[in-house]
Amino acid sequence: MSNIPSHIVQQIIDSSRIEEVIGEFVHLKKNGANYKGLSPFTNEKTPSFIVSPAKQIFKCFSTGVGGSVVTFLMKKENFTYPEALRWLADKYQIEIPKEKEQSAEELAYYSERESFFIINEFAKNHFHNNLTTVEEGQNIVLSYLLERKISIEFINKFQLGYCLSHGKDFYQNALQKAYNIEYCEKIGLIKPKENDFYDFFKGRIMFPIHNIHGKIAGFGGRIIGSDKKTAKYFNSPESSIYNKSEILYGLYFGKNEIIKKNECFLVEGYTDVISLHQAGIQNVVASSGTSLTKEQIKLISKYTKNITILYDGDNAGIKASFRGIDLILSANLNVKVVLFPDGEDPDSFSKRVSSDELESYIHQNSKDFIHFKADLLLADKNIDTSTKIQVVNEIIESISLIPDKISREFYSKEIANEHNLSSDTVLNEVESRVNKTQTPLQTKNEAHQFLEIEKEKLVHFNQNLNYEELELIKYLIKYGTYILEFENNNKQEKTHKSTVTEFIVNELLIDKMLFEENIHQKLLKIIVEHLDKQEILDEDFFLKHEDIEIVELASQFSIHLHSLSENWKKLKIFVSEEEENLETAVQNAIYSFKIKRVKKLLTEIDKEINLIINDEDKHDILIELLNKKMKFDQVKIRLAKEIGRTILH
Ligand code: CTP
Ligand code: MN
Repeated sequence: MSNIPSHIVQQIIDSSRIEEVIGEFVHLKKNGANYKGLSPFTNEKTPSFIVSPAKQIFKCFSTGVGGSVVTFLMKKENFTYPEALRWLADKYQIEIPKEKEQSAEELAYYSERESFFIINEFAKNHFHNNLTTVEEGQNIVLSYLLERKISIEFINKFQLGYCLSHGKDFYQNALQKAYNIEYCEKIGLIKPKENDFYDFFKGRIMFPIHNIHGKIAGFGGRIIGSDKKTAKYFNSPESSIYNKSEILYGLYFGKNEIIKKNECFLVEGYTDVISLHQAGIQNVVASSGTSLTKEQIKLISKYTKNITILYDGDNAGIKASFRGIDLILSANLNVKVVLFPDGEDPDSFSKRVSSDELESYIHQNSKDFIHFKADLLLADKNIDTSTKIQVVNEIIESISLIPDKISREFYSKEIANEHNLSSDTVLNEVESRVNKTQTPLQTKNEAHQFLEIEKEKLVHFNQNLNYEELELIKYLIKYGTYILEFENNNKQEKTHKSTVTEFIVNELLIDKMLFEENIHQKLLKIIVEHLDKQEILDEDFFLKHEDIEIVELASQFSIHLHSLSENWKKLKIFVSEEEENLETAVQNAIYSFKIKRVKKLLTEIDKEINLIINDEDKHDILIELLNKKMKFDQVKIRLAKEIGRTILH
């Protein structure tokens, strides 16, 4: 299924720490023996997403999704099973044996996405190699980059490269290595021209754009020098691995520092990110190639709620920061702004001053959005009242974008105080705009989103509608190896013993009943196969099973929303009936299951009987059905008795 040898799969799974992996996507807080955080699958406000390091599983109580670290990556990143394994192998530095050099045919085994990443990785190394070892690269580019004060250390860190100017550099190499040319074209590395191809990025310095996992999603290519005849930057086109609005340049290198500093600097360009790193500031990203998007802000919000915009102080920079402020506020994040002197961006400024001076400039010039807007718009001291009113209105407009009501009130008071207005007036104005800014489209989207979540919940709970079946599954998974002790019917002193697994499987066999849900039936098959070899399976076996559906199923019962402290456990306050008296609980479960099933069968038989009761030709079938009905009626009576007995116990 995955082309990865199964002992390697096992090694990958054994080496992975679910709490570390999920920690890259979700802010997790310790909660008893588990970790807890906000579900990455919904927009929930109260954390209901639990990770168990002991069991190496997770469970999202808002959506019902749960399972192993592999399940998580598949659901969160839309990975295929092999993609998830490869991602983990990469993170934990487990080598997956190469299937020789990848030829075009072998590449076909991988999904298109995987191939794109492989080609980009090759391209990145090739371009970097040009820069460091090929004469043209060394001469022209190294001197240019060093002149721009990008040091070798950071050329290496950001894996900068160069595409040779003759136009066939990458194409010929890709051809020679048998990479899929169609794929190379799809990710924009080459372009067709007169029955041939040429390098899209020829003669440009290459900035590889890493996705959050460090894979190369695309490239930015800058011309050398300042030729006005062509665009300064070319960027890779959108593809299944490169969605411009969802990638931030520098996030891969900066995410740990963003978490640590609890702040993210937002700059405009590739060179700004690199220069700030060089100046010792690593919590920085750029929305390169597009203007800032909602999705990019959402991406940052996984790591911090505090964004500081660092833009050029020219008109374009100011305009862009106004737009950025409103977008960030709408996402319920905190925003500050630092403008650099007109005509300077963080790149040029950081080259002119020392690291300390840069840090203190940022510190001293960072303003929250209210003061940023006010100071900028009211810079002229002799400003007239009508302009002031306009400015206050501008700020009110921004405040009204904040989804959180308390924040809106807080900022309203602040702006009211500052301009000697009554805070009620300001707040009323803000709130009246809140209702207006909820455009029908927005509301519709929200409703839609809500419905989607509800639908997911429904699907989850629908599965659980087969409650009796699920109960049995729970006992098979959680208590399969537990010993049940029964008094013998004939009331002699002896008791007989059986594991929960054997007891349930026997009971099912007696009445020839199987499970209705496919996944439950799959589990039963595994259990029976092992039972044939005298093996009783425990919870751990299912939680570590290679079939992720089995892991998902098992993890449902193994993780709880609220963690119990050891003291509570000692007091046995929350110990459920199932553990107190397993014999009764298991018997109740199996008999309830059977009764439900028999009742269902009887209803179906009745329906069939009604259909043919007056049909002379089907007399034989009718007799058969009546017999069946009688048999099941007896089973029903027997079961009812059994239940009565266990309940009386
Ligand atoms: N950009 C782009 N296409 C262009 C110009 C700019 O995609 N034709 C994007 C790039 O991502 C660039 C960012 O916008 O990094 C900011 O543009 P600019 O400030 O002009 O570029 P710098 O990165 O500052 O480049 P340099 O300092 O080398 O001029
Ligand atoms: Mn610049």
